Amino acid sequence: MGTQNTSIHGEWSSRLAFILAATGSAVGLGNIWKFPWLAGENGGGAFVIVYLLCIALIGLPVIMAEVMLGKRGRSSPINSMKILAKEAGRTQWWQALGWTGVIAGFLILSFYSVIAGWALAYIPRLASGMFAAVGDLSTTKEVTDFVSTRFNELTGNPERLLAWHTLFMIVTVTMVAGGVQGGLERAVRWMMPALFIVLLVLVGYAMSTPKFMDGVHFMFNIDFHKLFYPNGDEFSGAGVLAAMGQAFFSLSLGMGAIMVYGAYLPKHASIAQTTTAVVIADTLVAILAGLIIFPIVFTNGLEPGAGPGLVFETLPIAFGQMPYGTFMGTLFFVLLALAAWSSAISLLEPAVAWLVETGKFTRPIAAIGCGVAVWLVGFLTIFSFNIWSDVKPLSMFSVDKTFFDLIDYLTSNIMLPLGGLFIAIFVGWLMKKQIVTEELESSPDSLGYRVWHFLLCYVTPLGVGLVFLNAIGVFS
Ligand code: TRP
Repeated sequence: MGTQNTSIHGEWSSRLAFILAATGSAVGLGNIWKFPWLAGENGGGAFVIVYLLCIALIGLPVIMAEVMLGKRGRSSPINSMKILAKEAGRTQWWQALGWTGVIAGFLILSFYSVIAGWALAYIPRLASGMFAAVGDLSTTKEVTDFVSTRFNELTGNPERLLAWHTLFMIVTVTMVAGGVQGGLERAVRWMMPALFIVLLVLVGYAMSTPKFMDGVHFMFNIDFHKLFYPNGDEFSGAGVLAAMGQAFFSLSLGMGAIMVYGAYLPKHASIAQTTTAVVIADTLVAILAGLIIFPIVFTNGLEPGAGPGLVFETLPIAFGQMPYGTFMGTLFFVLLALAAWSSAISLLEPAVAWLVETGKFTRPIAAIGCGVAVWLVGFLTIFSFNIWSDVKPLSMFSVDKTFFDLIDYLTSNIMLPLGGLFIAIFVGWLMKKQIVTEELESSPDSLGYRVWHFLLCYVTPLGVGLVFLNAIGVFS
């Protein structure tokens, strides 16, 4: 057991195919929608620095560990953990890591699909030239009002959100039903470079706005006071937790998505190199997104802390003003939707792979079953933006959060970091060193291995632990 050579679900055709698929999973709404929103809400520079530190010191070691678990287990996360726990002579309870991952994946996809629906909805909006009208408005107030009214018309309408959410889920389920290797590989190969080029063009536009440097300054000016004291002089660790949660979310870590992709990795592929490439690409896209959004925010007198609508209330301004904006804008939202799809399938794959392994379901049936469950949970997010925007289920504990806020918080800030923590403990402390070095194809004496092992064994558990304690206010 555990040394099986291939998974029953197939395999990536090459190392590059794995890099493309894992990048497809990592790069998505997290980079372009969530990162600017969170950075804006948490004061900018200090949040960005903490985020980057979390990526380097926690994200990179954990992504290597998670891919390694998959590559060794060759199965869905639930069965991989079962096999590996047995191999390491540990309790079968380690399977629970696979189960909580499946739940986290369902919860994340339930809101991810709704937001991806926003991106879909913006494709016909841009293509029809809706935002070209921005060019004729005279004051920035008129411009920002126009764009935010369009956004609220969409989110305020549950039927419309439901229609786009449904469309997004149908396509996601269809792709997962076909097996994730085939089409994904071909699609991501041209999509990622295209997305990158469009982002560079948009950075060019952002540089032409009068407040470009204000945006840069906001993103890189390190002011820890803003992060720890968002409301004046009351300490809060929430911003640091959000930065760490975002590192996990953006790299698709802690719930088995990257593990199941690792299970389809060809036997001889360097984990260290491939994962490093994925991490660099993911981080670059997030930084570019920030460099585009914040100059637009300051040039138009908007609020960086505008919340989850930030991207949708800023980018259309750019498309309304720049040359070829209708074309660029349409292309951008098409690419964003594609990037969201290549992420969404990795959220569903762990559960579907497990159902197929039970031998009771075909892949299409498993994918449809999971898809319907996620689709239903999605209603909670849809209503959070309109008819239930005042429903705060935990208000009796003075938690001022909608269903969407709660699901997002529970998954990104709690479930994913905990998943990462347990992955680090399992790989760092419980697996046999010989197996780990064999899978990583590395010598236990090499410097790279020793640094990785140290980060995984000490820095990750301590980091996650401290950030949790900090967030519940133990250090205030
Ligand atoms: N990383 C993706 C993004 O940034 C979202 C995602 C895909 C994800 N798979 C995941 C997040 C697994 C957490 C866990 O958009």
